Amino acid sequence: MSTLENVKVFEFPKVSDPRGNLTFIEEAVNVPFEIKRVFYIYDIPGGVTRGGHGHKINKSVLVAITGSMDLHLSDGYKEIVITLNRANKGVLIPEGVWVSMQNFSSGTILLAMNSEYYDEEEYIRDFAEFKRFVKTYNPEP
Ligand code: TYD
Repeated sequence: MSTLENVKVFEFPKVSDPRGNLTFIEEAVNVPFEIKRVFYIYDIPGGVTRGGHGHKINKSVLVAITGSMDLHLSDGYKEIVITLNRANKGVLIPEGVWVSMQNFSSGTILLAMNSEYYDEEEYIRDFAEFKRFVKTYNPEP
């Protein structure tokens, strides 16, 4: 089971010319898994918190295509905060890592590339249950 040490921040390639910037993301090259599902979050009202879950199996890479937000990540023991604020910055969130998304700027579009199809059964949406789940794999450090 992953811990916060398995969270990775990526810089995706950026091709810039006088017409603007272009970033590309290739499965298994820039994202370390086969991408089965993509979703995006947009029209986000000010002040909301999204996420608030961990996964038993699914891995995600998140990119703020426009705008910014803070990702509060926890492995059940420690918490870190990563800010996504550039269209070519990605964060790998492996299974076993809790994510809460906060402080969205106006107009943010958050893209998530995922290793699994949507399956509510592999979500853990209760933090106490999440802690019990990860503890069985990662005993107290
Ligand atoms: P939710 O997990 O609450 O979103 P977030 O992680 O941004 O807080 O998902 C919102 C709803 O959308 C919930 O009813 C589940 C549904 N959903 C799908 O049907 N398919 C998907 O791929 C995702 C990510 C969510």
